[in-house]
Amino acid sequence: MKKEIKTWDEIFEGVDVSIDDLRGGGFAFPSPLSQLFERYFYSQKFFTEKVLPGVTGKRVLCIGGGIDNVGLFLAIHGNAVLSVDISQNAVDKTNLLVRQANMCERMKAVRLDWENDALGGEFDVIVTPWSLHHMALKMSLDRIHDTLCKGGEYMAIEPVCLSKTLTRMHELFPLQLDPLIPIGMERHLSAEDLEAIENRFNRVEVHFFEMFTRYSVSFFLFRLGLRRTVTSIGKMEHALLEKLPFLRVLASNMVIIASK
Ligand SMILES: C[S@@+](CC[C@H](N)C(=O)[O-])C[C@H]1O[C@@H](n2cnc3c(N)ncnc32)[C@H](O)[C@@H]1O
Repeated sequence: MKKEIKTWDEIFEGVDVSIDDLRGGGFAFPSPLSQLFERYFYSQKFFTEKVLPGVTGKRVLCIGGGIDNVGLFLAIHGNAVLSVDISQNAVDKTNLLVRQANMCERMKAVRLDWENDALGGEFDVIVTPWSLHHMALKMSLDRIHDTLCKGGEYMAIEPVCLSKTLTRMHELFPLQLDPLIPIGMERHLSAEDLEAIENRFNRVEVHFFEMFTRYSVSFFLFRLGLRRTVTSIGKMEHALLEKLPFLRVLASNMVIIASK
C-alpha cells in the first residue's frame, strides 16, 4: 500500500463537487491555485481542446483521474470509461459527478492502486492526466502497455524537466506553491523517463510547454491578475518549442500521445 494514499484521501476529502463546475475536461484538482493553472495553462488547454476531443467511441481507462473531469469529458463524448484512482474519496466524488451527469451507463470509477492491484480487461485508450509522475515509472508503463489493445493509444499530460541542472535546482530549492500538495510528492519526469516512454511504444508524439510560464512564474503572474497573459505567452512558447527542439530543456510540462 502506498504511503501517499492517506494524503490523497485528505486532499480530496473536503471538496464539494458539482456538475455545474465541470469545465470540459480540465483537471478537477481541488485548490484555487490548481484551478487557475487548469484554466490558464496552455498545456492543459492543448490537452483538453486538441487531444481529448479526438477520442470517441473507445474503451478508455483513466488512471489517477482524481475527481475525474477528464474521464467524464470522455464519457460525455461517447466513450466507455473506467476511472481508477488510489483515493476512495476521489472515486466516490467521481461517481457522484457521473450520476449527476447521467453517465452511469458509460462511466464508473473504482479504487485501485495502479502499482499494486490487478486489473483485467483491455482498453483502446489509456490516459494519465498529471498522475504518471506519482507512480513507479517503468513498472506502471509496462502495465499500461500490457493493458492496451494492439494499436491502442496512451495519452498523458505530465510535468517534465530534461535539464539535470534545473532538476538539481528543484531538489535544492523545492517550492510548495500549492498548500494541498506536500513537498516531496511532486516531481518532474526526467530525460530518462521520457526515453523509457519512447522505447516502450511504437510511435510517440511529444509536445512541450511552459518555459517562462512555469508554475513558479505563473504563480506571480496570477497574483498580478495577468491570467490571460499566462495563456498567450504559453501559446507562443509552445509554438517556439515545436520549432526549436534545443529549447526543450527549458520546458516544464509535456503532452504525450503514444501508440502500441
Ligand atoms: C496530481 S493528481 C491528478 C488528479 C487528476 N488527474 C487531475 O488532473 O486533477 C494525481 C492523482 O494520481 C492518483 N494516484 C497516485 N498514485 C496512484 C496509484 N498508484 N494508482 C492510482 N492512482 C494514483 C492520486 O490519488 C491523484 O488523484
